[in-house]
Amino acid sequence: MNLWMSLALRLSLGAVPCLVVAAFFGAVAGLALATLLLLLAVISHWRMLNQLRKWLQSPTTETIPDAAGALGQVFADLYRAQRDQERSRARLAASLERFREAAGALPDGVVMLDPENRIDWFNPAAQGQFGLDPERDSGTLVTNLLRQPDFTAYIQQGDFSEPLLMRGAAADSRVFSIVVIPFAVSNRLLLSRDVSQIERVETMRRDFVANVSHELRTPLTVIMGFLEHLVDDPAMEQQTRMHFLKLLHDQAQRMNRLVDDLLTLSKLENRQQPMHEEIVDIPSLLSILVADGKSLSAGKHAFKVDFAAGNLLGSASELRSAFGNLVSNAVRYTPDGGTISLRWIVEAGVPVFSVADNGLGIAPEHLPRLTERFYRVDKGRSAQTGGTGLGLAIVKHALLNHQARLEIDSTLGAGSTFKAIFPSTRMVAVEPTTTVSALVKT
Ligand SMILES: Nc1ncnc2c1ncn2[C@@H]1O[C@H](COP(=O)(O)OP(=O)(O)OP(=O)(O)O)[C@@H](O)[C@H]1O
Ligand SMILES: [Mg+2]
Repeated sequence: MNLWMSLALRLSLGAVPCLVVAAFFGAVAGLALATLLLLLAVISHWRMLNQLRKWLQSPTTETIPDAAGALGQVFADLYRAQRDQERSRARLAASLERFREAAGALPDGVVMLDPENRIDWFNPAAQGQFGLDPERDSGTLVTNLLRQPDFTAYIQQGDFSEPLLMRGAAADSRVFSIVVIPFAVSNRLLLSRDVSQIERVETMRRDFVANVSHELRTPLTVIMGFLEHLVDDPAMEQQTRMHFLKLLHDQAQRMNRLVDDLLTLSKLENRQQPMHEEIVDIPSLLSILVADGKSLSAGKHAFKVDFAAGNLLGSASELRSAFGNLVSNAVRYTPDGGTISLRWIVEAGVPVFSVADNGLGIAPEHLPRLTERFYRVDKGRSAQTGGTGLGLAIVKHALLNHQARLEIDSTLGAGSTFKAIFPSTRMVAVEPTTTVSALVKT
């Protein structure tokens, strides 16, 4: 029933008794009754309006007033509107919660900016990346919080077709890629991604190319110099010529060693197939290492060998190359008369290969960088002894392929110990036929 029909029915219901009273008791009595009924209707409406006013102060579907007649109709309509609004509010809240959860799970930082570039909202990743505080920083200009001239210029110039690479705060060595996406007329979404790892790899690649070029150019310059002498002076004395040829040969050998080491390193790093594993006969390997060490030392050092562990499951060629580098370092960085000890023992339940010398030793600040490619403590001395600076990088990668790690203990002026520590699962029991003295005699 619509409001007009309801009103017409109510008026006619009220009019009938008034007319009957007027017919029996006169017009005054009829009018008095009509006035009374109207007064009651006004009071009833006033009460209901009062209830409605109170309800409107905190409207919920549970507390909506109940009433008959036209106002009852209004209340029913209000109830329906209120219920629909509550449902859509709940749906909106659920969507917002889902959005927050999704943005919270993103590894990238998300910052919502208003048209004045003030921070509206940000996710936990952005909070961690830029040290933002939800309480303190909401509503603050983003350029006041990320105070970097490049960033301020990027935000202000408004061309976001290219991302901006930005360094973290002073104590933070991270690098971020920043992208700004305009949305909803003039709001902006700022996305930040931590690209430190990619940047590091890129820097390493650049350094590597520069180092290789430099390492190759040094002997090449020497070779070209000597060749020019030989070409310019065909009548050169035979003895001088032979001396030049010997120097040329040394430099060519140096280049050859460098290329060999680079190829070894590249093979170790880019293994396409799984490593060829075999039971490596450690006593034989130790005797080869000692023989190589002695030949390099040319009798200038004493050698000791300690063999007290089993054989090893792994790649014989990689282990020979890794252990050989450690032995050759010990020889080259220990002055004449020094002692070099090779040990293959079980330490704390795991097999350990170690090479100890009482040579030059290494200052502590160099230790963390020793396994970097081309890193040499004393470039001049290493160049003299023919080192490429790739030896320990090869050792590190060969050991990584065996799930082993390198531990370096060194005291400047007193000597060094390089330990290759293998997992116990790589140890294989050995027949007790080999003796230590047999190894040292080799
Ligand atoms: N036993 C050692 N005693 C003192 N210094 C060492 C020892 N082993 C390595 N070093 C230092 O570590 C640096 C890096 O060693 P690494 O074996 O990587 O390169 P290299 O010996 O210079 O060249 P390569 O091994 O390629 O011929 C060396 O240049 C040297 O300064
Ligand atoms: Mg070396």
